Amino acid sequence: MDTLQLALARNAEAIGGLLDRLQPARPGAQGRVVEAMRYAALNGGKRLRPFLTVESARLFGVPESYALRAGTALEMVHCYSLVHDDLPAMDDSDLRRGQPTVHIEFDEAVAILAGDGLLTEAFAVLADPETHPDPAIRAELIAGLAAAAGADGMVGGQMIDISPERNDLDLAGITELQSLKTGALITFACEAGAILGRASAAERQALVGFAQDLGLAFQIVDDLLDAEGSAAELGKPTGQDEAMGKATFVGQLGREGARQRAEEIVARAHAQLALFGERAELLCLAASFVLQRRS
Ligand code: IPE
Ligand code: IPE
Ligand code: MG
Ligand code: MG
Ligand code: MG
Repeated sequence: MDTLQLALARNAEAIGGLLDRLQPARPGAQGRVVEAMRYAALNGGKRLRPFLTVESARLFGVPESYALRAGTALEMVHCYSLVHDDLPAMDDSDLRRGQPTVHIEFDEAVAILAGDGLLTEAFAVLADPETHPDPAIRAELIAGLAAAAGADGMVGGQMIDISPERNDLDLAGITELQSLKTGALITFACEAGAILGRASAAERQALVGFAQDLGLAFQIVDDLLDAEGSAAELGKPTGQDEAMGKATFVGQLGREGARQRAEEIVARAHAQLALFGERAELLCLAASFVLQRRS
């Protein structure tokens, strides 16, 4: 395993452990929603967003336990977004991370509640003093995650994604949609590190710019994988964008053009971290990984 793979694996283990401890199974009817929340959160996943939080926070010498908790809260919101994204009313997907989606394994009502539970509990994790001793930092994390997840962030992007205008978007429109749908949570991943580390305005802006580019490249590759990947490798259905008639980066630029655009954006992302020098090496590697990922 190379340096990045090792760091990602180590991070995924830590995040999985925290998710497990923060949502212990419980008995009875109420326990069923927790079982579904655990199913949705503990079923693998790259844990890229918390990795970005931990590595961004590391630039400022933040204790890893704080960054892991903030990253875990963000991962809970990400997992909720996937559960709801897969619902019949949304993408109607039956496979996620190589396993039946939550509404298939449980049922639709339980999947809705499990998503609600993960979203809500994420903020309880951030509000806990174990995430940071300074309440002002905790409040900033809470406000930041709410903004990234809400109507001006991920939820807004998901709304545009299912709107009638969706299929006719041009490249600028697609970019705007993706910066909300996927970019907002990825941007918050790095911003959370800057918040925890009391970064200067310049440092924070550099991280935000980096993450915005990384998020865009990430979604271009998501579109490419949807067009040319396999469900077995990807762990989720492919060909959905085309089947739904969605305008995508691949549709606009062609496969080669989309890949080239993603490469250019990752090069730009790297340049934004110049002020951190070699300390940002893992973040740069994470941006390059986005181009190579097969799942
Ligand atoms: C999938 O995100 C949803 C998108 C925003 C494209 P990831 O590719 O990070 O999914 P997991 O967490 O690794 O399963
Ligand atoms: C959804 O985008 C991203 C979310 C906000 C959940 P997609 O619908 O393209 O994600 P996948 O391809 O199902 O992972
Ligand atoms: Mg979707
Ligand atoms: Mg989907
Ligand atoms: Mg997709």
